Amino acid sequence: MKVYFIGAGPGAVDLITVRGARILAEAEMVLYAGSLVNSEMLDYCRKGARTINTAQLNLDEQQRLYLEAHANNWDVARLHSGDPAIYGATAEQTRRLDKLGIAYEIIPGVSSFLSAAAVMNFELTKPGITQTVILTRTTGRASPVPEDEALSLLASHKATLCIFLSGGNLARVVSELRCSYSPNTPVALIHKVSWPQEKIYRGTLERVLHEINPAEWVLSTLFIIGEVLDSAKGEDSRLYHSAYSHRFRKGTPRE
Ligand SMILES: C[S@@+](CC[C@H](N)C(=O)[O-])C[C@H]1O[C@@H](n2cnc3c(N)ncnc32)[C@H](O)[C@@H]1O
Repeated sequence: MKVYFIGAGPGAVDLITVRGARILAEAEMVLYAGSLVNSEMLDYCRKGARTINTAQLNLDEQQRLYLEAHANNWDVARLHSGDPAIYGATAEQTRRLDKLGIAYEIIPGVSSFLSAAAVMNFELTKPGITQTVILTRTTGRASPVPEDEALSLLASHKATLCIFLSGGNLARVVSELRCSYSPNTPVALIHKVSWPQEKIYRGTLERVLHEINPAEWVLSTLFIIGEVLDSAKGEDSRLYHSAYSHRFRKGTPRE
């Protein structure tokens, strides 16, 4: 018996990994975060699998389900949105499983920020602009952000910033970012990427709050900011330069 924490991806049912879908199809018990995971994913489950939405359960109740599965020798597929390693509340579960001596494995998934980059044709790390992506969020009721990670401090790097879980705080986000990013820095808002309800805004830090209705971007929204979002900007990497040699290719010497 094993508990498999599976990254379900951002929403579209074909953005789960082949491995994740295979394990989901075999598990006797399936737990899924119903607030974010597409319930159509459950079509992958075997007939008769017990499917449980964890949105209504606290951690103790989830632990009781793991113990029940353990007692019956059932494998459990625990579906998390995107990738379980990013704001997945998985560590609190694996700590308990460690104590209970229940085996588990984590199957990665497509995080929403990667799906957002893909749908907008963004490379988040462009030579000549930035080589760093920061994933962060603003403080929420469930989890505070440490003071040392204040948005204004992270913004000072002017790297690409992907801000999760902050749709309800857009005015504060914009005001903190303005301390470091210039007003014309490109920003993007991506709501429900890969779902039929997907919605995208592209603009600048200065314009964003004038051009959107914040109330429409509260849930399942990512805020991305950085010069990399300007498709015209960036330099070629040296990797494919004709004069650049590496272990797999000999470059042509410059005249
Ligand atoms: C609890 S976190 C889970 C993140 C998830 N583990 C991941 O890797 O994407 C939920 C936040 O992720 C972002 N998110 C998740 N799914 C999304 C989607 N389909 N479109 C846009 N943002 C999404 C939003 O910022 C949302 O508030």
